[in-house]
Amino acid sequence: MDYPLPNASTDLTGQVALVTGASSGLGLRFAKVLAASGAKVALCARRMDRLEALADEIRASGGEAVAIAMDATKAEDLVAAVAKAEAALGTVTILVNNAGIPDAQRAHKMDLELVDRVLDINLRAPWIMAVEVAKRLIEAKNPGRIVNIASEAAFHYSGNGAALYSVTKAAVVRLTETLAVEWSRNHINVNAIAPGAFESEMLAGMLERMGDISQHMPRKRLGNPAQLDSTLLFLVGPASDAVTGTCVRVDDGQHGR
Ligand SMILES: NC(=O)c1ccc[n+]([C@@H]2O[C@H](COP(=O)([O-])OP(=O)(O)OC[C@H]3O[C@@H](n4cnc5c(N)ncnc54)[C@H](OP(=O)(O)O)[C@@H]3O)[C@@H](O)[C@H]2O)c1
Repeated sequence: MDYPLPNASTDLTGQVALVTGASSGLGLRFAKVLAASGAKVALCARRMDRLEALADEIRASGGEAVAIAMDATKAEDLVAAVAKAEAALGTVTILVNNAGIPDAQRAHKMDLELVDRVLDINLRAPWIMAVEVAKRLIEAKNPGRIVNIASEAAFHYSGNGAALYSVTKAAVVRLTETLAVEWSRNHINVNAIAPGAFESEMLAGMLERMGDISQHMPRKRLGNPAQLDSTLLFLVGPASDAVTGTCVRVDDGQHGR
C-alpha cells in the first residue's frame, strides 16, 4: 500500500522539532511528517550523508531542516545536538526520542560492551535529550512536546533475543510517565508511542535472524511507518493539549498474541 504524506491538518508552523535517529526507518518518516506539517526540523543521527539528503528533500518541498551529526552513546554529542538545533532553527519545542537499537543476542551471549550500548542509546540518551530540551523550555517559559518511541516489547517478551531491549523499552514507558508528572506544571507534555513490528532497517535485521514473522502477527502483516503518522501528529498537536504520560500502542493487537 502506498501512503502519501498526510495533509497538514495539524499545523506545526512556528514549532521546532528535533528527531533522533532520523537517518532511517521510523525516524526518517517522523521527520518528513513533522516538516510536511510546518515544523522546522533538526535531523540527528550518525550517518550525515543520509541526514543531508533528507534535509535537502525537505528544503526542496519548501520546509526548513538542519542535519546534525550525533552519536547517542556520547553525552556531549546529545547536549551539543540540542544547542546546535537551537542555534540553527530556534528553541526546540518538539522532541522525538526515536533512536534505538536491538540487542539481537540471547542474554547470556551479550558482552558488557553491548549491554552498555543498548542502555546508553535506548535509555540514557532519551533521558539526556528530554532534560536538555525541557530545561530550555522551562527557562523560556515555553510549552513543549516530547514523544518517546517505546515498543510493544515494553509490555511482553517473546524470547526472541531482545531481553535487554524489552527492559529499556519498559523503562522508556516509565520515563514517559514520570517526566510527564515532573513537567506537567511547565506545560511540557511527555508521551510515548509503542509500535509493533514496522518495516525498517532494525526489523530487516530481525527478519534475517528469525525469518518471516508476519505470519505470527494477528493481522498477518507488518506495519508501514506511515501508519504512525496520525498518532505522532496527535501527540505533538493541539488536540492532545491535556494528554501527558500516556503510551499509545500502535501494534495491530500484537501485544495480545
Ligand atoms: N521497526 C520496528 O518494528 C520497531 C518496533 C518498535 C519500536 N521501534 C523503535 O523505533 C525506533 C526506530 O527504529 P527503526 O525500526 O526505525 O530502526 P532503524 O531503521 O534501524 O533506525 C534506527 C535509527 O537510530 C539511529 N541510531 C542508532 N544508533 C545510534 C547512535 N549510536 N547514535 C545516534 N543514532 C543512532 C540510526 O541512525 P545512524 O545509524 O545513522 O546513527 C537510525 O536512524 C527505535 O527506538 C526502535 O526501538 C521500532
